[in-house]
Amino acid sequence: MTGKIYSASTTAPVNIATLKYWGKRDTKLNLPTNSSISVTLSQDDLRTLTTASAADFFQSDKLWLDGKEESLEGPRLVACLSELRALRKALEDANPEFPPLSKYHLHIISENNFPTAAGLASSAAGFAALVRAIANLYDLHQSPEDLSRIARQGSGSACRSMFGGYVAWEMGQEADGSDSRAVQIATQEAWPDMKAAILVISASKKETSSTLGMQTTVNTSTLFKYRAEVVVPQRFKEMSKAIVNKDFETFGKLTMIDSNQFHAVCLDSSPPVFYMNDTSRLVIGLIEKFNKIHDRVVAAYTFDAGPNAVLYYLERDEPIVLGLLKAAVPEVDGWDKKSYTASIAPTVP
Ligand code: PMV
Repeated sequence: MTGKIYSASTTAPVNIATLKYWGKRDTKLNLPTNSSISVTLSQDDLRTLTTASAADFFQSDKLWLDGKEESLEGPRLVACLSELRALRKALEDANPEFPPLSKYHLHIISENNFPTAAGLASSAAGFAALVRAIANLYDLHQSPEDLSRIARQGSGSACRSMFGGYVAWEMGQEADGSDSRAVQIATQEAWPDMKAAILVISASKKETSSTLGMQTTVNTSTLFKYRAEVVVPQRFKEMSKAIVNKDFETFGKLTMIDSNQFHAVCLDSSPPVFYMNDTSRLVIGLIEKFNKIHDRVVAAYTFDAGPNAVLYYLERDEPIVLGLLKAAVPEVDGWDKKSYTASIAPTVP
């Protein structure tokens, strides 16, 4: 025993989808039934901070999330850890002077500065941070795209948190998932004036996990097939083009109709899956009316697998968007109570 502890820390950002991933074609490898698009939020705002340590005297792998010990037995966590260990083992085989970290147990400490598991993409930031912290600890030099393939196996949407700015997760065709990975559509610098407001309508843990919700939809919804095969491929092209052209009107319209269709396929599942509540629907009505009065898309709403709203808008409209929220839903908190707003992430280090 050397008694030495090797450690590395990193942060990872949250990403909120504007074209939703909903449905797995392979549940083991987390391969999606459709490609998706998201915007990564700045780590100066929401982030997961993770430290990974390895030592020859650790007795078992352990994980603490927000101070609470969690099980490390889930197959998706195991898949990420074994892939990272295999990469480290290959490095040790090629460099016998390297300490044999691949043989040591890991202790992982992870902490979010925003509500966990409430449909605010905590699993995306969580798995992205876990994979990057261990990759740093193991001195792996895989590209962000390669790391995105590993993070995808933990939580599908985590692959998109490997990049800043505007990101696509290409579903890929291969059965082994080798081409199912995230790529950047545009940097934050290319479209810098986008912002997000996060409304924490409920910070409680969601009742139906996204994995269970997705499988219920895939197995029972008749609308789902049409969405995955017809609607999303076309919308993917239109949204990518809107991002590249900085066309907020089109981007915002597509974001809202896609959020609504995702919740529609949830309702079309049997038993139906509900993520939004009355306050979520009130926010939808409010933003629809607000945009109509202004005769343009000022703000675009989107809801993940939970009741919380994320609004995208352009920076110049921030005073009227925040003014509307203060006037119409003063009881709804922002993501850190004091603040609703988040910037878009520049390139993730
Ligand atoms: O990555 P998961 O398994 O947490 O699923 C995420 C699903 C949505 O957030 C609803 C959509 C998305 O594309 O992020």
